[in-house]
Amino acid sequence: MLLDTSALNQQRQRVGDDESVWLFGYGSLIWKADFPFLERRRAFICGWERRFWQGSHDHRGTPEAPGRVATLVASPDAVCHGMAYRITGETLKPLDIREKNGYLREITTLTFDDGKHAEGLVYLATEENPAYLGDAPLDAIAAQIDRAHGPSGANREYLLNLACALRELDVDDPHTFALANRLMPPA
Ligand code: SIN
Repeated sequence: MLLDTSALNQQRQRVGDDESVWLFGYGSLIWKADFPFLERRRAFICGWERRFWQGSHDHRGTPEAPGRVATLVASPDAVCHGMAYRITGETLKPLDIREKNGYLREITTLTFDDGKHAEGLVYLATEENPAYLGDAPLDAIAAQIDRAHGPSGANREYLLNLACALRELDVDDPHTFALANRLMPPA
């Protein structure tokens, strides 16, 4: 099901075109940084776990056969590692379009490698959004990802690129790695 959150996001935190803001990325925003940024730093946020529980009808699947992409699920003791980008408000606009299928911008506290903190934004898709698919057995999630394909390409590419980027960052993510290990090698 499609819900375009881009207009809602523009209203949530107003960032002037020339102002800058930190954005925390935990999914495609880690490995597909095809947007201009002023700074890029490894970072983590506390209290959240990465899960392939969000449906993708617009990028890695279709309305008829949605794929699955990452969102964050609240988990008090968890730490989610990712990549932070300092971007301008001008750059945020196209990212709102990219993340429009159910993600809402939230304010979060980022911690950088050196222990310093900053307030920033994160795109979060909660169970309230119509594209949310939620939990399922890992085999079923992996099979859905293996099948799905959308305008941005194969869903498996999203998962494998994310797993590869997390390994490069030396981040342990049992959920993502368990799914990636279940994917059949390409024919
Ligand atoms: C993110 O990467 O931070 C949001 C989800 C996605 O675009 O994969």
